[in-house]
Amino acid sequence: AENHYHEFVVQATPVKRLCRTHNILTINGEFPGPTVEARNGDSLVIKVVNAAKYNISIHWHGLRMLRNPWADGPSYVTQCPIQPGGSYTYRFTITKQEGTLWWHAHTGFLRATVYGAFIIYPRLGSPYPFSMPKREVTMLLGEWFDRDPVSLLRQTQFTGAPPNVSVAYTINGQPGDLYRCSSQETFRVPIEPGETVLLRIINSALHQELFFSIANHRMTVVGTDAAYTKPFTTTVLMIGPGQTINVLVTADQPPGRYYMAARAYQSAMNAPFDNTTTSAILEYKSASCCNKGPFSKPILPALPAFNDTATATAFTSKFRGLSQIKVFRDVDVSLNFIVGLGLINCTNPNSPRCQGPNGTRFTASMNNVSFVLPTISLMQAYYQGIPGVFTTDFPPVPPLQFNYTGNVPRGLWTPSRGTKLYKLKYGSRVQIILQDTSIVTTEDHPMHLHGFHFFVVGAGFGNFNPATDPANFNLVDPPVRNTIGTPPGGWVAIRFLADNPGIWFMHCHIDSHLNWGLAMAFLVENGVGPSQTVIPPPADLPPC
Ligand code: C2O
Repeated sequence: AENHYHEFVVQATPVKRLCRTHNILTINGEFPGPTVEARNGDSLVIKVVNAAKYNISIHWHGLRMLRNPWADGPSYVTQCPIQPGGSYTYRFTITKQEGTLWWHAHTGFLRATVYGAFIIYPRLGSPYPFSMPKREVTMLLGEWFDRDPVSLLRQTQFTGAPPNVSVAYTINGQPGDLYRCSSQETFRVPIEPGETVLLRIINSALHQELFFSIANHRMTVVGTDAAYTKPFTTTVLMIGPGQTINVLVTADQPPGRYYMAARAYQSAMNAPFDNTTTSAILEYKSASCCNKGPFSKPILPALPAFNDTATATAFTSKFRGLSQIKVFRDVDVSLNFIVGLGLINCTNPNSPRCQGPNGTRFTASMNNVSFVLPTISLMQAYYQGIPGVFTTDFPPVPPLQFNYTGNVPRGLWTPSRGTKLYKLKYGSRVQIILQDTSIVTTEDHPMHLHGFHFFVVGAGFGNFNPATDPANFNLVDPPVRNTIGTPPGGWVAIRFLADNPGIWFMHCHIDSHLNWGLAMAFLVENGVGPSQTVIPPPADLPPC
């Protein structure tokens, strides 16, 4: 195994998109940020230097961080943010993971521009479960805003209104040539006729599930998050914020230029649907194909309509795991979490803080608790025994039973607030039913769990039925993921082994929902206290 050293300098950098230059936060001046590459078993030392004027921390999305929550990164959960002028060095080892992950800022909305790929190759000499092409290409799907993320977040949190819709979707930071002033920079993938490439597709968008397709070409899915899957072919894929999908694409069509395009699945939080498409170009390298004649204009793929839940669901249900880790048949802990939005009535509906519908503010919750981030980190409070920072009474089931996906009475739209954790015994086998609700609106919530990967054992529409639905669970070859969407107005069942001590965040990866409180955290311990199970905090852990 190898050691890798990186230095990430967070800095403001002028970047021109859509005809205008903005100062955005970048790492080392790069947007998207640098790709981290390592092999399973390698160790990383990544020094993050904050040369910007905002507090920030970096999360290594999907990395297990065994016994090492200090390296996980979410601000106020496992660490206090790195203050301007400060630095913090993340040190961790990759344990039994291979595939495509990514990293991103985990403070407010800063990940809007601070993100990059994290690629884990097999150990030297260890094979891929599919025939690995010579060439691979990473495609980070994102969103471009015409405002800085700090004022965006302020607007979302302070006014209680939906965030501005992004002004473009992007592929590797580029809107693509269907947008104004963007065609020169369109991301291109040159390919030899007959050649196969591996595409590592990452959804790093702040708020948007996306459909992705390549004109006239099929894709063979071979992995998701940091796990392999049984191969299946598709012409379109749906990817939620936080997820990654690896596909093989073969240049088996007449030489030419073909758009690889992404467009919204579901509108972001009732925001007006922005019917725009980001594109890259798959460009055959054969002579004279590409700049004249019928090939001068690339062919566009047909993308599903933004409300095509049937296509999204059909795609997601095709995943089958290809994992050495076997899913367990019995569970020790069974949890039922309802997730969704909410509205807070305002005493003064004319106040600038009340810009939701009919004089309300938006909020969001899990089991009717809207998560409030503390002002010192949960991990530090836990490790040092500082009282009064969190409680461990997060409800294992919803406080009230009702028809979650029906016409939910307005009286149930207002969650309580709290910093509540749920305690899991180290080593327990856990099942969680994540149930979407129709409170305010049904929606696909891409739910991400830090510190673990989980099996997706079942999903369905309507209310989860504990009497009949478990009979249909896939306990043979469920896919292994770290982020999974609740079908809109439906539920998804996940299982994981609580084999990682510490405090681990679980939340919706749509950042406005997260910042409105669609989150909770697990405290995993074996009863002997953190100093026996978690490595000691590094000396440079940022102060609050
Ligand atoms: Cu990728 Cu808590 O996030």
